Amino acid sequence: MEFPFSIIVNSETETAKVVKLFFNEVNPGNVIALNGNLGSGKTFFIKKFCQMLGINDADSPTFSIINEYAGDVPVYHFDFYRINRLEELYDIGIDEYIYNSEAIKFIEWAELMPEVLPSKHFEIKLEFINNSSRKISIMKHD
Ligand SMILES: Nc1ncnc2c1ncn2[C@@H]1O[C@H](COP(=O)(O)OP(=O)(O)OP(=O)(O)O)[C@@H](O)[C@H]1O
Ligand SMILES: [Mg+2]
Repeated sequence: MEFPFSIIVNSETETAKVVKLFFNEVNPGNVIALNGNLGSGKTFFIKKFCQMLGINDADSPTFSIINEYAGDVPVYHFDFYRINRLEELYDIGIDEYIYNSEAIKFIEWAELMPEVLPSKHFEIKLEFINNSSRKISIMKHD
């Protein structure tokens, strides 16, 4: 996979193939920001990625700010959609998570709280085209 990467996929299976390619580019410590409308596939992408680390119960955090999974590599899963104030993130010690060098961190709706993103991160943009088609763009920021 070369960056910037962009593709139109027409099924969940095709999205899963993109996830597999992307998986090979990711190392422990990396931060992956996912942006895109409701239902564009942010959680789907993360679930597929997590499956490759032996994590089968990944899902968006609803009652907490973060979900932690113990896979072959630890994964932190954030969803900023319901965060109202930046302080909510600092209250849970967001930097300890974001700058952890052993875990892979996913952030759904990262664009809502850009302040906490490290300059080095992957940015994944998902665009809804129709029921089964999506545009997937992946950028690597160093
Ligand atoms: N090509 C595709 N790639 C990914 N998901 C697809 C595709 N086609 C259909 N879907 C479906 O689209 C839905 C995407 O939902 P998902 O919860 O991943 O979106 P989301 O971006 O996390 O939304 P939210 O902002 O509400 O968290 C899933 O039900 C998935 O099965
Ligand atoms: Mg989601």
